Amino acid sequence: MSTELQTEISQAVERRRNFAIISHPDAGKTTLTEKLLLYGGAIHEAGAVKARRSQRKATSDWMAMEQQRGISITSTVLQFEYSNCQINLLDTPGHQDFSEDTYRTLAAADNAVMLIDVAKGLEPQTRKLFEVCKLRGIPIFTFVNKLDRPGREPIDLLDEIEQELGLQTYAVNWPIGMGDRFKGVYDRFKQQIHLFERTAHGSREAQDTVIDLGDNRIEELLEQDLYYQLKSDLELLDGVGPELDLDLVHAGKMTPVFFGSAMTNFGVELFLENFLQYALKPGSHDSNIGSVEPTYPEFSGFVFKLQANMDPKHRDRIAFVRVCTGRFEKDMTVNHARTGKAVRLSRPQKLFAQERESIDEAYAGDVIGLNNPGVFAIGDTIYTGQKIEYEGIPYFSPELFANLRNPNPSKFKQFQKGVSELREEGAVQIMYSTDEAKRDPILAAVGQLQFEVVQFRLQNEYGVETTLDVLPYSVARWVSNGWEALEKVGRLFNTTTVKDSMGRPVLLFRNEWNCQQLIGDHPELILSAIAPVTS
Ligand code: G4P
Repeated sequence: MSTELQTEISQAVERRRNFAIISHPDAGKTTLTEKLLLYGGAIHEAGAVKARRSQRKATSDWMAMEQQRGISITSTVLQFEYSNCQINLLDTPGHQDFSEDTYRTLAAADNAVMLIDVAKGLEPQTRKLFEVCKLRGIPIFTFVNKLDRPGREPIDLLDEIEQELGLQTYAVNWPIGMGDRFKGVYDRFKQQIHLFERTAHGSREAQDTVIDLGDNRIEELLEQDLYYQLKSDLELLDGVGPELDLDLVHAGKMTPVFFGSAMTNFGVELFLENFLQYALKPGSHDSNIGSVEPTYPEFSGFVFKLQANMDPKHRDRIAFVRVCTGRFEKDMTVNHARTGKAVRLSRPQKLFAQERESIDEAYAGDVIGLNNPGVFAIGDTIYTGQKIEYEGIPYFSPELFANLRNPNPSKFKQFQKGVSELREEGAVQIMYSTDEAKRDPILAAVGQLQFEVVQFRLQNEYGVETTLDVLPYSVARWVSNGWEALEKVGRLFNTTTVKDSMGRPVLLFRNEWNCQQLIGDHPELILSAIAPVTS
């Protein structure tokens, strides 16, 4: 390894920041993404992301479903530069396209931005995604959005985050007014007020007038009540709130909070600047040889998502790989840890929205799309040099269950093959009844879309028409101490025992309440909402 290459890798890691946005539908994720890209110079006019979306709808039919439902099924990686940093935004599928992929994407992210609507506070999807971030202990940055609309008291929102998520908060900036009277934000470090002008839907970068707190103009610019409100809020924050502690932030225990309005650009740039300063750079990953640093000179990465048939022009599958170490080069040959085979990585792709652009190199923190049909499964490691195998991606707790039936016996083989391949690809989890007579697979999913994708693909790719019988469960828990523990306990009530594709016991419950009751009654069973991929 030359020192030049080592320096190049170190510099690349130093510049990189990678994050995903966690939010509930409608909080403004698309809008914020667009504004971040606008500041990053990746687009010049807001509206481009949405426009690209609808353009895509018109040209792509990789799934007729995508058109029918008017949603995007694929998640993408957006790359942009700002202030000499290379930023990778891993787009987490949300809305109706919420699926296990949304969780898996978080397994590839180094930081999360929790986007909250000021009027709504914490919402269900945000809480679920937060839990996954918490498990990984990644830093969480909070952006409270839509301050140009009436909403809840900022202090209440901080309180909600602290009480419900158990995260300490530190407000980096503080809003002045709200709704029609939203005047801007106060930067607590620089002790400056940012007064913003509204642009038409924030389609250009906002005009940002900055004045110091002691400046006489404040009294002219801010109405008296807003000025006094700001002063008293700041006294309260300084008096009772903790200091910003970056170690706690990096451990996922404290969240820096920003206020703004993505639509009108208020506070977006201030957020971006601070985020880049506080966010974690690509870090180390646990593997069979211990913790591996991103500057480790050999290339390695893991597959966190597989996407089939994204583009009708290329009926193919793309494996999304999170680069963990070293330098990726086009056409390089790597080893595939699970199979032990050598694989040549031809046609690597960087993904900007839906466009595919070929890439020549990538470093830790980047995501590449690889085009090797059938070779990769979720969680696979690829590497050069000494063998490295990363920990893999767990199965996340499904919430929707259905029996999948193939009414046509002549299609039995295709049905089996399709189900097994779609499971391997991670499109859905498959469970089976413990009753040998019931052989229909149970589809277990995080989002409804996964069912539709499976049925659609079984028909289109395997020629099998299937029917679904929805099952009345909404909670799944793996029994970590296995069948033996279950046998000892004997008969259980208000739950059904099934096995996952690896034969491990899983309990299904109709609701959280039944699950909690069983936990109370049988503390000897170790239940887990997440199961490791490898047994
Ligand atoms: P999502 O991706 O999280 O689902 O949210 P998206 O950005 O699509 O935003 C949801 C709605 O909230 C959009 O309105 C968007 O314009 C609006 N919005 C986002 N940020 C702000 C903000 O800071 N202030 C205000 N007032 N609204 C905001 P829409 O009516 O659904 O769409 P559109 O007609 O604006 O395109």
